[in-house]
Amino acid sequence: MELHDVKDIAVLGAGSMGHQIAMLCALGGYSTTIYDIQEPALEKAKENLEFQMGKWIQKGKISKEALEEAFARLSYTTNLEEAVRNTDFVIEAVVEKLDVKRNLFAAVDRLAPAHAILASNSSTIASSKIADVTSRPEKVCNMHFFFPALVMDCVEVVMSDTTSQETADVTLAVCEKIKRTGVLLRKETWGFVANRLLFALNKEALKLYEEGICDYKDIDIIVKKSLNHPLGPFELMDLSGIDVGYYALEEKYKETGNIEDKPPVSLEEKVNAGTLGRKTGKGWYEYKGAGVKVK
Ligand SMILES: NC(=O)c1ccc[n+]([C@@H]2O[C@H](COP(=O)([O-])OP(=O)(O)OC[C@H]3O[C@@H](n4cnc5c(N)ncnc54)[C@H](O)[C@@H]3O)[C@@H](O)[C@H]2O)c1
Repeated sequence: MELHDVKDIAVLGAGSMGHQIAMLCALGGYSTTIYDIQEPALEKAKENLEFQMGKWIQKGKISKEALEEAFARLSYTTNLEEAVRNTDFVIEAVVEKLDVKRNLFAAVDRLAPAHAILASNSSTIASSKIADVTSRPEKVCNMHFFFPALVMDCVEVVMSDTTSQETADVTLAVCEKIKRTGVLLRKETWGFVANRLLFALNKEALKLYEEGICDYKDIDIIVKKSLNHPLGPFELMDLSGIDVGYYALEEKYKETGNIEDKPPVSLEEKVNAGTLGRKTGKGWYEYKGAGVKVK
């Protein structure tokens, strides 16, 4: 299989990630189907895309005609068979639950053409934990986009022990076609590259705070002004959702049993209090309206 064999892409899951990944595919010239189990999720996806892409028009990032063509390549369905029966490439972006993903991959494997590549956008579930439910483990890999996918220009393409070089090559070529920088990871590792680095930084930042060495606001200032990061670790936790990092660490701790992986107390307190960051109006900082920091 080569890049020119990919004409039709199915994106499974229309949530925060799925709808924007699908838009990238449609903008890249692919006939793209977005599938979700919930009709309201599809309606919200459509609304969000009309709003987001309206801003692209206002900023002159795309012409009206090009956008209309891209929207015409995009279709929405709650019928899995319809989504994948003619597809060449599947990008799964459903809820981060292993059993849900395994069931979905098994169903897709039965319904999709034998040549289709099946990629998962999971942040923490390596494709080797899913590939064995399919009859094509050599065609399964991770294709990890970053939030928000319409903005962030990086995709980690991760090979498992069974992923073929051909699958990795075609996936990287699809990244290029949809104007994203695809980077190959030849082996699976927890958090892949970006999140492994990010978790290491966050872990040290939380330790410094919990040990009373520095206030969290000052840690953010140091990271921004000395390391030149655009956001400090606490600001970034608020942006991505404190619960997201907490549950990922909890899963890792369950797997390794290593006390070093145990979620820090200060994170646990925030999750228990429901102060999860920008989405709840309060996390490490306080926010009003569309994520504007007030304190
Ligand atoms: N949010 C992020 O920052 C981020 C970044 C990179 C990768 N990811 C990964 O992307 C995936 C999706 O995350 P999200 O943040 O978009 O989640 P989300 O909760 O916003 O969306 C998940 C969508 O999946 C749908 N869904 C659930 N079960 C389904 C099924 N069986 N079939 C079809 N649709 C189903 C839900 O209705 C929902 O619309 C996860 O694997 C996550 O690890 C998330």
